[in-house]
Amino acid sequence: PVTPTTSATSANPAYDSAFLRAARGESVPHTPVWFMRQAGRSLPEYLKVREGVGMLESCMDADLITEITLQPVRRYGVDAAIFFSDIVLPLKAVGVDLDIKPGVGPVVASPVRTLADVEAIPDLTPEDLPFITQAVQNLVAELGATPLIGFAGAPFTVASYLVEGGPSREYAKTKAMMFGAPDVWDALMRKIAQISAGFLEVQVSAGASAIQLFDSWAGAVNRADYTAFVQPYSAQVLAQIGTTGVPKIHFGVNSGELLDLMGSAGADVVGVDWRVAFEDGIKRIGPDRAVQGNLDNTLVFAPDEVMFQRAAEVIEAGKAAKGHIFNLGHGVIPSTNPDQLRKLTDFVHEYPRG
Ligand code: CP3
Repeated sequence: PVTPTTSATSANPAYDSAFLRAARGESVPHTPVWFMRQAGRSLPEYLKVREGVGMLESCMDADLITEITLQPVRRYGVDAAIFFSDIVLPLKAVGVDLDIKPGVGPVVASPVRTLADVEAIPDLTPEDLPFITQAVQNLVAELGATPLIGFAGAPFTVASYLVEGGPSREYAKTKAMMFGAPDVWDALMRKIAQISAGFLEVQVSAGASAIQLFDSWAGAVNRADYTAFVQPYSAQVLAQIGTTGVPKIHFGVNSGELLDLMGSAGADVVGVDWRVAFEDGIKRIGPDRAVQGNLDNTLVFAPDEVMFQRAAEVIEAGKAAKGHIFNLGHGVIPSTNPDQLRKLTDFVHEYPRG
């Protein structure tokens, strides 16, 4: 376990940034904004540096990670950078045979089904991730007062790829293990918690200012099953990284029914997707936690005045929260015109605080 890091203290040049102030629930000069998947296929400069380089290969090259992470910060002037990597990268680093297929996502060669399959996955050690440490150190030096968000996948979401063998709509095999083989499920979820927490610790030790734990697909379960089979393992990850003192954001798609429980898993900031009226989401999360969200990510395809009107409604609703970090309700869609995200960033920054 990591001891409190300088990232969590005023010795961090990003400590007083609008993003970190909002995450802590302090007053801000403007609403901070960043976009999930801000780095990636919507940017021509990303497509250019990725030419002929596989996704996983690019996630293991410190110079490429650094360049790709900085691209959206340069272009949009967003309030935070998010580390360029993937939720399955630490599995690859410990030796799980997997690939990230263009237009598909993570694909696992031998899906996990038995206790022996779980036990065959090695634990993660920091020595597995030298390129991550290097890239974070490069980035923190380049970013100065702009915070870097480290991230990992939460156990349920990562388990879904390991058990299904790839992306899924129903999560039938994953939930069959959860309901039918609770001992295997427990072992798998603990294993992933160790790996995801280790991935976060490496990023925070190297200088990341905050973390986001993505439980993108947790909305596949109801509240009781979330409480019994999902939350304890996310809580384990958040508690382990909590000792560093950096703010922890927790987000899932379709998680409207789970928002309070995702908060009580140990988050400082809860992300809200676009299906939930933001004011309702804020009420569900309660006064003790800041919020992130939640503009519908297709509004970039609407006329500017419609996009701005909806963004204004999100900012107004966000005033009721302990703190508000503006974001989309899920990741940037690859066909998004980057000019729209620049206009949106400027709009959020210029929106009157009063
Ligand atoms: O800009 C950023 O947000 C940082 C980079 C980032 C990526 N993946 C890069 C990526 C982050 C934070 C992730 C997290 C991630 N990966 C999640 C959680 C976030 C979410 O979207 O809910 C999930 C579920 C994954 C698994 C995964 N990896 C998916 C679903 C995909 C997309 C499949 C596709 O091609 O549409 C990937 C691949 C991936 N991860 C890409 C990027 C930029 C596309 C790779 C490419 O350029 O071909």
